[in-house]
Amino acid sequence: MTILVTGGAGYIGSHAVRALQRSGFAVVVLDNLVYGHAEVAVRLGVPLVEGQVGDRALLDQLLRGEHAATGGSPAQPGEPIAAVLHFAAYAYVGESVADPARYYRNNLGDSLTLLEALKAEGERRGVPLPMVFSSTCATYGIPEPEQIPITETCPQRPINPYGRSKWMVEQLLADFGAAYGQPSVIFRYFNAAGADPAGDLGEDHNPETHLIPLVLDAMAGRRPYLQIFGDDYPTDDGTCIRDYIHVCDLADAHVLGLQKLLAEEGQHVYNLGNGTGYSVQQVIEAAKAVTGRGLLAHVAPRRPGDPPVLVAAAGKARSELGWRPRHPELATILAHAWAWHQHRFC
Ligand code: UFG
Repeated sequence: MTILVTGGAGYIGSHAVRALQRSGFAVVVLDNLVYGHAEVAVRLGVPLVEGQVGDRALLDQLLRGEHAATGGSPAQPGEPIAAVLHFAAYAYVGESVADPARYYRNNLGDSLTLLEALKAEGERRGVPLPMVFSSTCATYGIPEPEQIPITETCPQRPINPYGRSKWMVEQLLADFGAAYGQPSVIFRYFNAAGADPAGDLGEDHNPETHLIPLVLDAMAGRRPYLQIFGDDYPTDDGTCIRDYIHVCDLADAHVLGLQKLLAEEGQHVYNLGNGTGYSVQQVIEAAKAVTGRGLLAHVAPRRPGDPPVLVAAAGKARSELGWRPRHPELATILAHAWAWHQHRFC
């Protein structure tokens, strides 16, 4: 079976491609390479189609298996696509505030085009084409303390255009499900982190804004210091608490979600997190233990829009999908991120 992975040259998408390959699926990657990396597709040995998810003609071709890949592996027409894992999105909160049009066009508009293409192709075949969609805990906005850990039924009140663009695609999926029977799994990720233990895939954002790679950069001397955004939050040490989930565990969940949709269709929503929160200070201390290095850290003002605590209740993914994170320990997540960091820079 061939699966289309949009954004498969990016961080989470690339790990999902490998998980699909290990489960026996063939993969075609569609990526506009704005933030993704062509060499990732080469490393994974998958056909890469460089293009925009909003390109309807390209999508129609791809879904029918008439793609012409431009990298990764030789261009050749393939099997028709059986399902889509839709990762492609812009994901910088600050940028989404400064340029919301770009975010709604790319994240929302292109997702609508993709859903319309799936609908048309499904009608042509007489079989719906499932979609697994990457959503985010950012759709919950700033939950009340009594809503922690966050279940899937927690009210969604995203506070920035990035979160709203993801939330709106969730609404599209619900409406397409109700009206046309579009099968979908929505995954709301908490804080994706870590890297493939093989050491050849990992986080490679430019610019980098995420805590763990920035901590490791500072420890490796690639940045002079780390800024801690706020130490006056209502948490034990005053810094923000997040639920860090290993990127390979996210990838595994996608395979399980896909298999569920291929077996029984329906519309499903799952949080993906470990259910354990770590403060910024705790992440720094854990990283010191893993790397044996120190760093300079300065307390800076709060970053606008950062909720004090985001921790998942992820029991639904465990009970319905049989999902079991293989790397739940923060030390393991950091060790894999560090190995990747050294692979890239040393
Ligand atoms: N942080 C710092 N210093 C840094 C970077 C981050 O103190 O240099 C802090 C942040 O303030 C936050 C925590 O570290 O408290 C984690 O920050 P990240 O940027 O790594 O992750 P976020 O929790 O902000 O981001 C995640 C997802 C986003 C999503 C967001 C919603 O990666 O895609 O949750 O809150 F939009």
